[in-house]
Amino acid sequence: MGDSLLADRRALVTGATGFTGSHLAHALRAKGYHVRALVRDPDGANAKRLAEGGIELIQGDIGDAEAIDQAVARMTHVFHIAAVYRTANHSDAYYERINRDAVGYVLEAANRHGVERIVHCSTCGVHGDVAEIPANEETAFNPGDVYQRSKLAGEMLAQEAARAGAPVSIVRPTGIYGPGDDRFLKLFRTVENGTFRVFGKGDIAYHLTYIDDMVDGLILAGEHPAAIGEVFLIGDDSYTTLDGLVAEVARAVGVKPPSLHLPVVPLMLAATACEFACRPFGIDPPLHRRRVAFFTKARAFSVDKAKDRLGFQPKVPLADGIARTAEWYRQEGWLKGSGKTAA
Ligand SMILES: NC(=O)c1ccc[n+]([C@@H]2O[C@H](COP(=O)([O-])OP(=O)(O)OC[C@H]3O[C@@H](n4cnc5c(N)ncnc54)[C@H](OP(=O)(O)O)[C@@H]3O)[C@@H](O)[C@H]2O)c1
Repeated sequence: MGDSLLADRRALVTGATGFTGSHLAHALRAKGYHVRALVRDPDGANAKRLAEGGIELIQGDIGDAEAIDQAVARMTHVFHIAAVYRTANHSDAYYERINRDAVGYVLEAANRHGVERIVHCSTCGVHGDVAEIPANEETAFNPGDVYQRSKLAGEMLAQEAARAGAPVSIVRPTGIYGPGDDRFLKLFRTVENGTFRVFGKGDIAYHLTYIDDMVDGLILAGEHPAAIGEVFLIGDDSYTTLDGLVAEVARAVGVKPPSLHLPVVPLMLAATACEFACRPFGIDPPLHRRRVAFFTKARAFSVDKAKDRLGFQPKVPLADGIARTAEWYRQEGWLKGSGKTAA
């Protein structure tokens, strides 16, 4: 679609200071949308980068219904990407407020303001540890932690709104990676410096999505008529195993993949103890159960529904995506020899 036809499209992106939201906001802007971002700190570096890219900033917290109402006003599209995700020292109530209640505020505001299309970003994690692979959109829910439970509760609100006729589409991403992400940095660094250990057998299924493909999926969900009222898993064409992922990372950073596999139970016990020890002090535990789940939970999904109905086609295979990510980490000075440390 030509940019001139998009001149009257106005999209609110929540979570635009984060990894996925920032890529999405810039991609929508490049397509000709007027893009507005709801940000907590307009003076922060990430918000400034958005403003430099021609994105309108509006200050507010996603837990504040009034701020959301103002952010949604006059928008034709809403991409609700914000979530509490990467940090682990919050109460369960906080997860529920941000990942569930805020979804309700977004949906109510969108309804009040007559928004044409709403994309709610959920997670493949609502399926939790998948018993039979590949799972699909119909696979039973099995959330395994407070993040996944609160995301499922948020998605349920979006599904309810869709059943009531709201123009909502739901996307469940698999693990998102690529330039701009620091969640996988530790994996790259420890593989590179030889300290990475595989806990468990390493044959557990792992499914990623390169950020550009994720953004394509989100935009299709917000534009394609067949997406309305539907749920789509978005991910790479194929999944790998944990050992397969580690091997790609090792190739990208130029080392041999680790061959040693250690038992996972002691690690899970240590993570549990670490979480409880850190909680009273309000600090992020250096090790927590969700991190250990990286070694234990099977994640493998079919993305056929998005391909068949929306024409979604992932373009960046794992080897390319991992190489591009390693290159970005190098440019940031975060891999060996750079002399810098990660933010
Ligand atoms: N990354 C993955 O592998 C993955 C996989 C499946 C699903 N998802 C889903 O994809 C979405 C994006 O994930 P991501 O990894 O890109 O997240 P991220 O980098 O952690 O970004 C989260 C965003 O949410 C914002 N946010 C959090 N709490 C907020 C609040 N109270 N008020 C306003 N904004 C708030 C953050 O703002 P600040 O900058 O102010 O903190 C940030 O912009 C989330 O919905 C997540 O559940 C992610």
